Amino acid sequence: MGFPLTEEQQLIQSSARDFALKEVAPLAEKIDREGVFPAETMKKLAELGLTGIPTPTEYGGGGADFLSYALVIEELAKQCASTAVVLAVHTLTQSPILVFGTEKQKAKFLPMLTHYQVLGGFALTEAGAGSDAGAVSTTAVLDGDHYVINGTKMFITNGDGAGVVILMARTGSEPGTKGITAFIVEKSVSPFEVGKHEDKMGVRGSHTTELIFKNCRVPKENVLGKVGEGFKVAMTALDCGRVGIAAQAVGIAQACLEESISYSKERHQFGKPIAAKQAIKWMIADMAKDVMAARLMVRNAASLKDQGKPFTLEAASAKLFASETAMKHSIKALQIHGGYGYIRGAKVERLMRDAKITEIYEGTSEVQRIVISGNVLR
Ligand code: CAA
Repeated sequence: MGFPLTEEQQLIQSSARDFALKEVAPLAEKIDREGVFPAETMKKLAELGLTGIPTPTEYGGGGADFLSYALVIEELAKQCASTAVVLAVHTLTQSPILVFGTEKQKAKFLPMLTHYQVLGGFALTEAGAGSDAGAVSTTAVLDGDHYVINGTKMFITNGDGAGVVILMARTGSEPGTKGITAFIVEKSVSPFEVGKHEDKMGVRGSHTTELIFKNCRVPKENVLGKVGEGFKVAMTALDCGRVGIAAQAVGIAQACLEESISYSKERHQFGKPIAAKQAIKWMIADMAKDVMAARLMVRNAASLKDQGKPFTLEAASAKLFASETAMKHSIKALQIHGGYGYIRGAKVERLMRDAKITEIYEGTSEVQRIVISGNVLR
């Protein structure tokens, strides 16, 4: 690929590939079937220093660039999209602390997350605030040295295990995106409840729950960024998060390609491998071309972030293109496998269910088009 990786990036990529093949792939089917959280894998990722890849070493992170992080997510997702998103959201929790946190907040919370002493979560979405993230209705009212938080968050990845959550709540009376403040909520200090556990179609090993805040008292020193600027904190974090989900989608799409190549070479019909048929060749050609383009878009967005340049447009574009590539080609990969692909336990069946969510979480495809058009029409 004409996007040269440095020696360090190649090393991280090949270590992640080996780890994913050896430790992640054998568990993927069970994780999906039983909806098991990949607890042991997360511990092993922590031992390898991969639970805070782009966070600076002074906070216990890997000190690597964002592109390296995207490479790791792609490799994990190729084997198990659930494991990839658990790590992606855990890492997403660190980025706003790094960008908006005070030195005290960074020194306290980042090492907890990078060393995986706690799992991270990102609590923005509510029943009435999905794509319209500015419609958050959870409230945070100042009472002495604490904010008192009331409200229910939903669809929270890592919700049931999260020990530190970045929470967006309304502190002001201004409507919409104004008057929202971000908080770092440490569950052991500011307890909250885990509500409904969603029974999802895909990424079943990543647990998605409600989080219920009832008079949850959060120290006012845990306000992240400025009071009233929580929407900006959330959007800045999601710029990073979207590159991670785009990388996850590339991993899923690459797996679809690899499964399609190997199956079409071994499956014989009409006296020949089906790979000899033009119908199959064209499907695989389109898959290979789109995976290549999606991967380049992810690397472009990650590399702009690494250079400190704006990357909102590129992150949204990569997320949109990669997730639609994963979805479109997971359907084709299943079609190539015919009836065998439609059976529970077939890898392509799981890939198709896992691909769908990449078009939805961290901003639907429609939201990415809003972001892209907003940037190019400005
Ligand atoms: N960076 C910094 N600031 C930003 C920004 C960004 N990327 N995007 C917007 N802003 C700022 C704007 O500049 C604006 O600031 P001013 O008020 O000072 O002018 C303010 O935020 C409001 O922006 P908009 O008017 O564009 O806001 P909007 O209400 O029209 O919403 C939206 C825009 C893009 C649709 C946004 O609501 C959005 O991204 N929605 C989707 C939410 C989402 O992705 N949720 C995912 C949940 S987390 C998740 O899924 C994780 C998981 O579990 C896997």
